[in-house]
Amino acid sequence: MKPEERHSTGVIWFNIIKVIESIEEKGLYVRVNRVISFFLDDKIRYIGASSLKKVGKVLDAGTGPGLTFRLIEAEFKVGFDASLKMLKKLRAKNVDVVCGVFEYMPFRRNSFDGLIAAYSFRDSFDKAKALAEFLRVASRRIVLVDIGKPCNPLFRIVIGLYIKYLVPVIAALLTGDFRNEWWSLYETYEENWTNCALAKALDNFGNVIQIEKMFGGLQVTILDKR
Ligand SMILES: C[S@@+](CC[C@H](N)C(=O)[O-])C[C@H]1O[C@@H](n2cnc3c(N)ncnc32)[C@H](O)[C@@H]1O
Repeated sequence: MKPEERHSTGVIWFNIIKVIESIEEKGLYVRVNRVISFFLDDKIRYIGASSLKKVGKVLDAGTGPGLTFRLIEAEFKVGFDASLKMLKKLRAKNVDVVCGVFEYMPFRRNSFDGLIAAYSFRDSFDKAKALAEFLRVASRRIVLVDIGKPCNPLFRIVIGLYIKYLVPVIAALLTGDFRNEWWSLYETYEENWTNCALAKALDNFGNVIQIEKMFGGLQVTILDKR
């Protein structure tokens, strides 16, 4: 299948979900991601989650194994994910979960006050559609925490090379498996919007704050809707 055919049929996206599930099943998710992010992964999750304190009802979009979910202090919170396997783990902790995709969310307009997508928006199969849905279901604040794609071309290349070649080698050293899942990470980086493109897309809808770490290789973008 040619790359564009794989795109239009959703094969790439489906493979990425399978890769995430496999990493989690092997119990490698936290350990490897912590090292490759220079121990900043949770710090920026925390920045994102704490910006939703006192916002009201919060949706954790792409909740996965619940690493961001656990940091959200809200009067009511819901974990949302396309992967049933991930949600079953969260469900075991007796929390509210919904299965679905970002691009077609099963919620009414303004069902939530806040929404956070941590390390998940980058994976969506149609970013414009996902963002439009986030804007529809959340009335006040939208927080995107993710690997960033720097606006500066030099930093973009350096971070790209790091993700493409060094990250899988670091993952190999940590897991003992050279053919590890982190070889797929670059695909999502390549497909991702730059940090400034993301900020610009949200700028039409309210006030945007963007915090960058690792020269833009990690970012938190917070939108306060008008
Ligand atoms: C890398 S995990 C992030 C988990 C967690 N938020 C964290 O902070 O570590 C990404 C999650 O987003 C989910 N996901 C990716 N694309 C999605 C989509 N289009 N719709 C719904 N969930 C999606 C995946 O199933 C996965 O559980």
